[in-house]
Amino acid sequence: MKKPIYNSAPLPFMGQKRRFVGEFKNALRQFPTATVFVDLFGGSGLLSHIAKQEYPKVRVIYNDYEDFRLRLLNIPRTNILLADIRNFIGKSILKNGRLPKPLHKQILDRIKADEQTGFVDYITLSGSLLFSGKYATSFEEIENQSFYNTVRQADYSADGYLEGVDTVKQDYRELYDQFKDVPGAVFLVDPPYLSTEVGAYKCFWKLADYLDVLKILTGRSYIYFTSTKSQIIELIDWFTRTQFDNNPFDGAERREYNVTINHYSKYTDIMLYKQV
Ligand SMILES: C[S@@+](CC[C@H](N)C(=O)[O-])C[C@H]1O[C@@H](n2cnc3c(N)ncnc32)[C@H](O)[C@@H]1O
Repeated sequence: MKKPIYNSAPLPFMGQKRRFVGEFKNALRQFPTATVFVDLFGGSGLLSHIAKQEYPKVRVIYNDYEDFRLRLLNIPRTNILLADIRNFIGKSILKNGRLPKPLHKQILDRIKADEQTGFVDYITLSGSLLFSGKYATSFEEIENQSFYNTVRQADYSADGYLEGVDTVKQDYRELYDQFKDVPGAVFLVDPPYLSTEVGAYKCFWKLADYLDVLKILTGRSYIYFTSTKSQIIELIDWFTRTQFDNNPFDGAERREYNVTINHYSKYTDIMLYKQV
């Protein structure tokens, strides 16, 4: 039987590299002597999946730091839940239409029942019930949101998706240390977005974390992903052109003011002052 090829993750996943699939394949072809691909920030496993399709004989390590496999394993359960929700909604509500209160409650009760007997994939549910782009990761987060009829009609399936791929779950630094001296190792490096955008991730990434990742690239084969939002390339260009003799903020007084935009988005305004 022919193996299915996925050009996007089989379940909704924010930050998956589906737009890069074509270019990623081209990039992979530049590493014909690779002995192992180490997907340090595996996410949905899409890059691992593609690496395995391109190089079936080469070892591929998928770092499933946020337990995406648990979501894959629970696809049958998620499909049943979504089928029930489709039945509740029936044909009465137009596509994308907002669900009325009684239906909202009926769906929440059904979700609660699943919560009491095992795993609930809130991210996938979000894709089928919440306004486009919104994500919830728990019952508490989803219960106060408005629901819309965006329920997917077809069942989800991930047959063969991670076949032949080795899954681990480690901090990327530990995994890197295990493979850094392996000849022919190629690192796939797609770190989380900077802290302002980490809504659906269970972590909080700051600039220093981002810069730490860059240290592991030196002298190693890699395929690295970033975006202009992080301005990391601009920052590194600047630092390699310019050097500070000392830290201009040394000895400065610092005052802070916390700003909350919404549940996911908070930041701190900072004032620094110094008299010489
Ligand atoms: C941008 S996503 C990767 C997306 C992936 N390339 C894809 O196509 O689906 C970054 C991932 O890094 C994970 N992550 C966060 N902190 C990590 C750490 N310290 N070590 C390894 N992975 C981490 C996050 O949970 C998230 O899944």
